[in-house]
Amino acid sequence: MASQQALTELAKRRGFFFGANEAYGGTAGFYTFGPEGAALKRNVEAAWREQFTLRLGNEEIEAPTVMPEPVFEASGHLDGFDDMLIECAECGESHRADHLIEDAVADIEDAEALGVDRVEELIREHDLACPTCGADLAGEPVEDFNLMFETSIGPGSGQPGYLRPETAQGIFVEFPRLKEYARGQLPFGITQIGPAYRNEISPRRGIIRVREFTQAELEQFIDPEEDEPPLEAVEDVEVTLYPVSEQHADDGEYIETTIGEAVDDAIITSPWVAYFLGVAQGWYERVGVDMDRFRFRQHLSGERAHYAADCWDAESEIGGNWIEIAGFAYRGDYDLTKHGEHSEDRFTVFKRYDEPKTVERATVDPDMAALGPEFGGAAGDVADALQELAESDPDAFDGDEVTVETDGESYTVDTEVANFSVEEQTENGEHITPHVVEPSFGVGRTVYTLLEHAYSEDEVDDETRTYLSLAPEIAPTDVAVFPLISNDDALIDVASDLADELRAAGISVSYDDSGSIGRRYRRQDEVGTPFCVTVDQDGLEGDDETTVTLRERDSAAQLRLPVAELAAELEAVFDGDREFADLQDRYERVDTDVTTD
Ligand code: GAP
Repeated sequence: MASQQALTELAKRRGFFFGANEAYGGTAGFYTFGPEGAALKRNVEAAWREQFTLRLGNEEIEAPTVMPEPVFEASGHLDGFDDMLIECAECGESHRADHLIEDAVADIEDAEALGVDRVEELIREHDLACPTCGADLAGEPVEDFNLMFETSIGPGSGQPGYLRPETAQGIFVEFPRLKEYARGQLPFGITQIGPAYRNEISPRRGIIRVREFTQAELEQFIDPEEDEPPLEAVEDVEVTLYPVSEQHADDGEYIETTIGEAVDDAIITSPWVAYFLGVAQGWYERVGVDMDRFRFRQHLSGERAHYAADCWDAESEIGGNWIEIAGFAYRGDYDLTKHGEHSEDRFTVFKRYDEPKTVERATVDPDMAALGPEFGGAAGDVADALQELAESDPDAFDGDEVTVETDGESYTVDTEVANFSVEEQTENGEHITPHVVEPSFGVGRTVYTLLEHAYSEDEVDDETRTYLSLAPEIAPTDVAVFPLISNDDALIDVASDLADELRAAGISVSYDDSGSIGRRYRRQDEVGTPFCVTVDQDGLEGDDETTVTLRERDSAAQLRLPVAELAAELEAVFDGDREFADLQDRYERVDTDVTTD
């Protein structure tokens, strides 16, 4: 296991990630992914897309990251997307008040759920001090701080807008069009991978809590009454669950079970959420998360976001702490209902009945020649209000008069003028608001987990070596190619031709002819390159075909094989059709001095 410091140093030294804008003093909460990190992140995103978009049969979109204020009035983020802020009067540093409590009080794991007033009290009761300067924080006010970055769209005073705090809203606001592309048929899923922004009070722990990060989200739109997930595909998947009941129990334990049993035993109440936990478990295993350091934890009630009816987090263990790397929320009809209420568009789908239904419908046909003179400009609204009342409370038309309200004014109308009737109508279907189930992954936190779980040390040639045991699919580079001696033209020709040939076969290659060969191996080990190929004099000598050595990262074992066979063998390994062990059975093992200087 890597210490945070060792991993951060390696990340910086080898170009995975580092604090952004360092030339200008740095900006807390913003990180740049260097060449290795960007490649690793791209591979994680590609693997996610392959699973959650392509394999699940979903469609991907790319929406803008800046959205106008009404979107977030509707979504609830303007009112409810807050963290608890406390500022030190002495040094002016800002802190997450709930985190201070969690760090200081052993049996409080979710202080956010306690509310601002209680957290303020706890800070007083426990005499908490500012972590930066040590000044007393008791008596300092705790406030809700909205995490969205505000901006202005257009010149002048512009239109108020915000950087999206979750990619999801870009999918929800486009639902009226997206449902058309899905031909109005539920269920369907839309994915998006892209940046999200949160003005975190105290960004910390490297790329784990930052102010700009990448999310990979899937919004699955379902008919809650009819649509079932294909649970049979994941029912035997084994998972480690930490439900609310166990978190509350004094001797609470993890539940080791299968997805199928967790649904049968009602540990996970939504089959859709369970289905996505099963798919995610397989995906995390595939990309290289250590499954002994992984669990699904259910949100406590006070922890759930304002939109979530139930939520489970995927958590990975990092340096002895559990961090949330993805959330799986049952968002119900919250988002589409809110956008339907706040916008001009329709956020429903038309659900056709198997057979047309005959139903009784209460309706009005107001006499506008009477309403117009009586109510003037309000007559149209009064007619609409009468129709709404007929649908919601037909008995209101039993008397001689009926009263409706519109724009805060009451209007009394003669029932004869309203022309109320109940008619039989044939209906082919109804408009329903789909429910949403959402797997939401943090890409940066996944990258960090993979690095931490892959970090390894061993002894090679009597030296301690650090290597990243990354899954080949995820490693930034597939193969490194070295000419053993950097000023030998014959070796360079073979090595650079080989690099070109491998690249043409779709394999990503790092060509390196600088420094000692031992150092070159160490460099590649530290960035997790699964294979190194060395072109040496032995392979070029003699009348036989040219050979090269192939070295596998984790075992440091080397084989000699014909250069003409290398591309096909490596392609087979990367496609999962062959293992390095199979090559070991067929090719000569070499213990030459090519690993050392
Ligand atoms: N649309 C749902 C949503 O945004 P979330 O739990 O707030 O849910 C989803 O975020 C994921 O995004 C988290 O599980 C985490 O991996 C990542 N994430 C959230 N805030 C983050 C931050 N400040 N820095 C890095 N990653 C973050």
